[in-house]
Amino acid sequence: MQIYRKNDLILEVIEFSPEMRERGDFLIIEDVRGDLLVQVIDMEYLELPGLLEETITDLPYIEIAENGEESILLKIRDATVLKCKIRGILTDKGILTSTWIPSRVHSSISHITDGEVLRYVIGDRIKRPITIGKTRFEEEVVIDAKSLDGKLTVITGKKGTGKSHLSKIILKGLLSYGAPCLVFDINGEYVGEDTVSLTPGDTLKFTLRYVGSDSFLKILDEIYGLPSSSLWEVRRVWESLGEKITLEKLKHSIRAKSMNEHVRDAILRRLEMIEASRIFTDEPSEGIRIEEKIHSDRGVIVNLKGLPGVFRRMIVDLILTKIIYLLEKERIPPIFLFAEEAHTYHDEKFWEDLVTRMRHIGISLIFITNQPDRLSETIYRQADNVFLFNFTNENDLSFVSKASRVDSETVRSLVSTLPPRYCLILGEVVGDIPIVLSVVGDTYFKSGRTKCYFD
Ligand SMILES: Nc1ncnc2c1ncn2[C@@H]1O[C@H](COP(=O)(O)OP(=O)(O)OP(=O)(O)O)[C@@H](O)[C@H]1O
Ligand SMILES: [Mg+2]
Repeated sequence: MQIYRKNDLILEVIEFSPEMRERGDFLIIEDVRGDLLVQVIDMEYLELPGLLEETITDLPYIEIAENGEESILLKIRDATVLKCKIRGILTDKGILTSTWIPSRVHSSISHITDGEVLRYVIGDRIKRPITIGKTRFEEEVVIDAKSLDGKLTVITGKKGTGKSHLSKIILKGLLSYGAPCLVFDINGEYVGEDTVSLTPGDTLKFTLRYVGSDSFLKILDEIYGLPSSSLWEVRRVWESLGEKITLEKLKHSIRAKSMNEHVRDAILRRLEMIEASRIFTDEPSEGIRIEEKIHSDRGVIVNLKGLPGVFRRMIVDLILTKIIYLLEKERIPPIFLFAEEAHTYHDEKFWEDLVTRMRHIGISLIFITNQPDRLSETIYRQADNVFLFNFTNENDLSFVSKASRVDSETVRSLVSTLPPRYCLILGEVVGDIPIVLSVVGDTYFKSGRTKCYFD
């Protein structure tokens, strides 16, 4: 291998006897100043003036030089140009950025496996390992649970590529270290031994007293659009009932209290809609306390499968408001929140706001989505870790490549050819060196299998 030229941020390397190179592979360029790590992001044939003419006139003969080896011309014809991104210099302290370019004459180039690169980047600094997959050289890819802690992580890719599967592996890993985890599960697929599943209307019911007036009024206001004068009436009735508050008593008092008939109707209609969700109970023994579930040492799965959007949003609102309150009062430890298809139960603005405050509150966020453009660009830009599965849709590809913390050329080149169950990891979890891996097969969760009519 020989350095050919440097073209903007790409170092082009000529390889005369092509190996089984793949996009994403790493090379080391050794120079007197140090070892430069570069990553192949594309490959092309070497184009030289006159080569085309020679190729045509020589066909179909194979030239063999006198010593029995292939002629120089054949070698050149077979040579490839590896387009490589410079990732930095390998040192004992990890990979450092650098601006020098290696000598074309006095440098030598060799291959280094992804596993060896990972050892340099995160190596023996991993305290809480989670094995998530294998490199193409069959080396284990292990990440540190700590690199997700207090961090924003996005897992995205097209349908059925293995996002939820990876998310379950990460969840399982975090739970094995006793980390509190909460999952908003829209497909009812996070069912495992280490989890407790909360199904709204069944194992997930709250009393009004537990939820509190502020949360309840917020739902009437933001989700059910109750006008402020009516909200005020509800607050007054709630205060008069004090600790004895129940949905039945609230409705009864609203009916009995003297007020404008339109206001009364507006309130009662909304209370009936809320009652229909069956997530409130007047029976204290039926009502759950989210802090008790979180302290149970099992992952808390909120099963949102099959629920109308408005109920999903109400449940997510109630739970997150409570969680934030409990975290602020230090009644629960910092928590990992997995949000599958978050846009189906809250808008961009809500999630952006949570992302801005998450570190202070004590929430580590993991978004999982097959519609990358439904999470805002701000979220991708602030993401500490991104796991990218395949995208073929041009819009999705340009969206994630624009917003990601790694250059868009790398993302485009490596993601568009990934087979299912393979992903490109970017960010802190891999010391900011993009790594491609195949995700491990086993989890202890129910599979997110597509239901089919024909087997
Ligand atoms: N690495 C893997 N090894 C074995 N099976 C896998 C792997 N990744 C995914 N699967 C299986 O492939 C199927 C699809 O995976 P998964 O449900 O994770 O896809 P997804 O990307 O979340 O899809 P969707 O966008 O529809 O939610 C599931 O049956 C899952 O168990
Ligand atoms: Mg999924």
